Amino acid sequence: MSQDLSKITCIEDLRVIAQKRVPRMFYDYADSGAWTEGTYRANQEDFQKIKLRQRVAVDMEGRSLRTTLVGSDAVMPLAIAPTGLTGMQHADGEMLAARAAADFGVPFTLSTMSICSIEDVAQATGKPFWFQLYVMRDREFCANLIDRAKAAGCSALVLTLDLQILGQRHKDIKNGLSTPPKPTLRNLINLATKPRWCMSMLGTKRRTFGNIVGHAKGVSDLSSLSAWTAEQFDPRLSWDDVKWIKDRWGGKLIIKGILDVEDAELAAQSGADALIVSNHGGRQLDGAQSSIEVLPSIAQAVGSRIEVLIDGGIRGGQDILKSVALGARGAMIGRAFLYGLGAYGQAGVTRALEILYKEMDVTMALCGRKHVSQIDRSLLVPGTYPT
Ligand SMILES: Cc1cc2nc3c(=O)[nH]c(=O)nc-3n(C[C@H](O)[C@H](O)[C@H](O)COP(=O)(O)O)c2cc1C
Repeated sequence: MSQDLSKITCIEDLRVIAQKRVPRMFYDYADSGAWTEGTYRANQEDFQKIKLRQRVAVDMEGRSLRTTLVGSDAVMPLAIAPTGLTGMQHADGEMLAARAAADFGVPFTLSTMSICSIEDVAQATGKPFWFQLYVMRDREFCANLIDRAKAAGCSALVLTLDLQILGQRHKDIKNGLSTPPKPTLRNLINLATKPRWCMSMLGTKRRTFGNIVGHAKGVSDLSSLSAWTAEQFDPRLSWDDVKWIKDRWGGKLIIKGILDVEDAELAAQSGADALIVSNHGGRQLDGAQSSIEVLPSIAQAVGSRIEVLIDGGIRGGQDILKSVALGARGAMIGRAFLYGLGAYGQAGVTRALEILYKEMDVTMALCGRKHVSQIDRSLLVPGTYPT
């Protein structure tokens, strides 16, 4: 019997349920930021400062949020961002979220650090999705990943540039979510309070990094995997790597993790099709500006040459609308879909997308616009938004 989620009316409802159902170490992994979490908080808070202009007596019949994002059709200007360990928020999480996104009509991005593999997700959806690449020291492994994404029919490669070295989240260290994992007694006791999660995990074979185990040289079990991941993120990553990755991939390329106008220029010059204004959801450089604060200057500098997307702090449809008003072609969500997944699996991701759609549609109407193409900064109250 399908669940009735009609009383789940906002993303915060999903967050509260996810917190109850997902083991603490994995919930904390999602719902935390680097060091003081200042940038993590600013991502959301800065959206709240932007005010909308209410308009009345404008014909609102026949509205549409439809658009295209990097050549992919989308029912609204939204895509699902890549998140590692998604299959730990819910068993088979990446397959469920990809299915929800495909059915709803928005792009889904699979992380390199996913639990379900590229091939799992391709099989689960039968539809194209985006694949996110981390550049590892083992370039042969990277080249193979690119080839596997191509073979699986992925429609864009999302190349993440803001994780050459790992930012630090206090909660992960305290929870023992490290490589190798060292769960604390407190975590193990906490696990015993999540029978639904434990049962569903016992029912799946996918409990480790599906893109890596059996594919990276010498990685066959949990301890070799831990050693491999601990040393593989490549601190030497440079724009020269972007060139060979672009050539090897040969399809649509999206550069993720741009927060500075100078880097946005370099991304545009690299020949990429799109960039994502992102601070990794406040998980890397604590003290960096929020994504929405830097979006207008980046969109102004390069928006005519390259599609500009944004992520970080999107928890409502109004945030998507504000992003588009300030120059983004579309927005991406990380935690907003993870909360849905942790709370109710595939149905929860669908519910998150429905909530965001409704909020954006109603807000657009109350601001007097019928189509995404009519959204610009004249929708916003001057002086309340960054320029
Ligand atoms: C739990 C978690 C795991 C993430 N893992 C990845 C990843 O593997 N690759 C990547 O490029 N970004 C990763 N990100 C960053 C997201 O793609 C995105 O930039 C961020 O979640 C956006 O902020 P939001 O969560 O406030 O929407 C992760 C974010 C979260 C919350």
